[in-house]
Amino acid sequence: MAERFSPRLPTHPYPPPYAFPSTSSSRLDAAQSPLGPGAVVLLTGSTGALGSYLLSSLAENPDVSRVYALNRGSDRSSLLERQRSTLDCRGLDCSILGEGKVVLLEADVSVEGFCLDEGVYKEMHETVTHIIHNGACLIAWLAAWPVNFNYTLDGFESSIRGHQHLIEFALSSPLPLPPRFVFTSAIGVLQNVRSKSPILERRVEAETAVGAGYVESKWVAEEMLHDAASRCDAFDALVVRIGQLCGSRRAIRGVWNEREWIPAMVQSAPAVGCLPTDDKVGRETAIVCQEAYICEQTVAWIPIDDGSEILADLTLSAPVPHTTETPVRTVHLIHADPAPWSSIAPALSDELALPLVPYEQWLAALESLSARCKATSSEATSFGSLEMATLPGAEKHARLRALRLLPFYQGLAGWGGGDAMGFPTLDCSELRRLSPRVGGDGKGIPRLQDADARGWMGYWRSIGLFD
Ligand SMILES: NC(=O)c1ccc[n+]([C@@H]2O[C@H](COP(=O)([O-])OP(=O)(O)OC[C@H]3O[C@@H](n4cnc5c(N)ncnc54)[C@H](OP(=O)(O)O)[C@@H]3O)[C@@H](O)[C@H]2O)c1
Repeated sequence: MAERFSPRLPTHPYPPPYAFPSTSSSRLDAAQSPLGPGAVVLLTGSTGALGSYLLSSLAENPDVSRVYALNRGSDRSSLLERQRSTLDCRGLDCSILGEGKVVLLEADVSVEGFCLDEGVYKEMHETVTHIIHNGACLIAWLAAWPVNFNYTLDGFESSIRGHQHLIEFALSSPLPLPPRFVFTSAIGVLQNVRSKSPILERRVEAETAVGAGYVESKWVAEEMLHDAASRCDAFDALVVRIGQLCGSRRAIRGVWNEREWIPAMVQSAPAVGCLPTDDKVGRETAIVCQEAYICEQTVAWIPIDDGSEILADLTLSAPVPHTTETPVRTVHLIHADPAPWSSIAPALSDELALPLVPYEQWLAALESLSARCKATSSEATSFGSLEMATLPGAEKHARLRALRLLPFYQGLAGWGGGDAMGFPTLDCSELRRLSPRVGGDGKGIPRLQDADARGWMGYWRSIGLFD
């Protein structure tokens, strides 16, 4: 598919091979937009979780002069209403939407011209210096686990076509340098790596991503950037493989999309009667300790607002020389100072007054709950007029997202990677090199701790997740 959607070659001559300048503002100077000093950013998916924080940081950044925020349309409400609501529920300043710096546009990037007014498209084309292609259907990955024929790679054709159009938009820019292209990929492209050693920030083979359309589409999109960069020396592309983003630390604390797999796991805990702790190294430790189930494996989850700040830095910073032969940089956006799962899980267990049990035991309890709910539901159907919701607890259980994500959790049980959830352990040296903010070893973004987990719980309670 990467070949089928290979972007067309640029329509205008490009400068000779780009030698990376050493001064911090040189790329911005070279790519100076006619809109004046500062970067002009095209951001997709600004109504999403990460997109909201990104829009907010970019709008507040004095080095940015304009943000074109491109989002799909909706029948339910206007784009302005949706954007205001996604900022507001995170405690982010909505006044950025009325200041002229943010231009909200309903668009379809899978169509040439993005379904925008010709004049608006031309203005963007002539001014955009940076692109952050962030819009994607993340929840589809979970819902489609492991294989759902509605969500095979073919189901992502329009996303890939959109990616192609954005690359072409960049390659045909009339500016002296094409816009820097930042793509939010996912660590899911590494899902088939079964190594316990850290995976380097490098291009990977297709085999590592095969399995679900969402991650396959991310891999294809990464490859399209490699292809474009191999044909246009001036093309500056950055693949940001995003790891697990967790609840925010600033503005409203603990905001974490309740539709994702960890919140869904926690939501199900009262019905399931327990919460999972790690099962991989924990099993070995439990044998040693006999009584307590102790686990020292870590998670490299990163608070979404910290992740967004890093992503904004990576986008706007001056290019630095590559460390690899490939013209496309790749980074793993994870926490550089991972936290022991044992420093987070007890807070969740304490908040819910429920025990921590090995992952397999939690999974068996969830499977059993799922079987009971299915039996209840077929009983309800066989009684005809008896609604499922009238059966004890049935309505509540119908709202448990973990039941819908059961195949995902079953798949996770087989993951043998090095982190506490079985995900591969990832190297982030390149991320540290490119973003001073990242730090690590206690010097950068503070490690996740008990207070973070309690913050997530506070947020989930505030939105009625357990009601
Ligand atoms: N959150 C994580 O832990 C995580 C992990 C790995 C990778 N990522 C990547 O990070 C990016 C942002 O994730 P997120 O957590 O902010 O996701 P999110 O909250 O689901 O937001 C996704 C954004 O993309 C838009 N979108 C979804 N499907 C689309 C489609 N078919 N066409 C056009 N726009 C579409 C959404 O628009 P609507 O508002 O209209 O739905 C929304 O603006 C994504 O590229 C995701 O793959 C996130």
